[in-house]
Amino acid sequence: MSEEEVRKGLAGVIADYTAISKVNPDSNSLLYRGYPVQELAASKSFEAVALLLWTGELPREEELTVFEAFERANRSLDSRVKAAIDLLPLDCHPMDVGRTAVSVMGANHALAQDSSPEAELDKAQSLFAQFPAVVAYDQRRRRGLGIVQPRTDLDYSANFLWMTFGEEAAPEVVDAFRVSMVLYAEHSFNASTFTARVITSTLSDLHSAVTGAIGALKGPLHGGANEAVMHTFEELGIRSDESREEAATRAKAWMEDALAAKKKIMGFGHRVYKNGDSRVPTMKAALERMITHYKRPEMMGLYDGLEEAMGEAKAIKPNLDYPAGPTYHLMGFDTDMFTPLFIASRITGWTAHIMEQRAANALIRPLSAYNGVAERHVA
Ligand code: CMC
Repeated sequence: MSEEEVRKGLAGVIADYTAISKVNPDSNSLLYRGYPVQELAASKSFEAVALLLWTGELPREEELTVFEAFERANRSLDSRVKAAIDLLPLDCHPMDVGRTAVSVMGANHALAQDSSPEAELDKAQSLFAQFPAVVAYDQRRRRGLGIVQPRTDLDYSANFLWMTFGEEAAPEVVDAFRVSMVLYAEHSFNASTFTARVITSTLSDLHSAVTGAIGALKGPLHGGANEAVMHTFEELGIRSDESREEAATRAKAWMEDALAAKKKIMGFGHRVYKNGDSRVPTMKAALERMITHYKRPEMMGLYDGLEEAMGEAKAIKPNLDYPAGPTYHLMGFDTDMFTPLFIASRITGWTAHIMEQRAANALIRPLSAYNGVAERHVA
């Protein structure tokens, strides 16, 4: 194989078919099973979107009711998962907690080794229901707080915030959280989804594939970017007494220096979208509602200042992680909990891809072009 045929990072390589989502960078659109993601984010619950990704269709009312009942009945943190989390140091990264929790869930799931479509869907739905309790408990234990039991009278998003903060969130906060979950749910062959498909292609089990996907998501070039965006804001310094304009001026100056120092700015750029990430306008609108709700205009100043300076200097646009990071910050999550929130959402897309891969499997095993020393022999 000649060197020209090597596609570093598999850039531009079409690795397989998928019917789950379509990214169209030219029209700046993202479709889940044919539906524009911004339409789903405008009117559908995250529970309905999860069913859409798994089954291919938006659920009828009775189907949604059945799934909601299942989700509400399976929200509690399993005692074995809690015991495993309690063994982990408080200063380990929360992504390590998420990865470990999913692994423990796999070891304990009665259908762990059953890869029939019914068992796979059951495992996917159990993960969906149980993962929020992992994030909520981990956030609380790091603050020296005890576990908050789930409430069955709240929907997925409201209950997630309830279990994390121990108080009912305002409806607009619940809605912004729901929007983030819908937008993060699926994005075709991104690095973590591809990882899940590679693992599934060996006929390994669903929990192993999700555990591996979490490892891929942790990196700052992928899911870890939402956390890294907040580090940028923190480095800049968030000053609640500053006006939007003052914050924007300071942010622009910071960005100019950072780019002059050839820094890579997290939350900007995308392998597929070169003219802007299709999910950003919807998430930015949700961030703006949070800025109004929490009365924090200076955060929007930092956001706009960085975006403007990046646009002027390099014409690189923000990706979803850019508005998602400050949104989660305003809601009260610690910065290192942002990527586990991404897991809670992407569990839907990953497991839909795992099921799709299994249904038409081919072992994923590419070739490599050797560039090491020529053949030699032991003396
Ligand atoms: N800051 C500064 N320069 C950048 C950035 C950035 N965020 N992104 C791209 N560039 C520059 C890069 O330095 C390169 O310039 P040059 O040609 O002069 O060397 C050029 O743009 C092309 O960049 P690349 O890294 O080769 O492009 P890629 O398609 O391999 O990378 C990316 C895409 C997402 C890895 C990259 O844009 C990046 O590292 N962004 C920051 C991390 C980030 O926000 N990741 C989240 C991705 S979206 C959510 C997700 O999928 O999880």
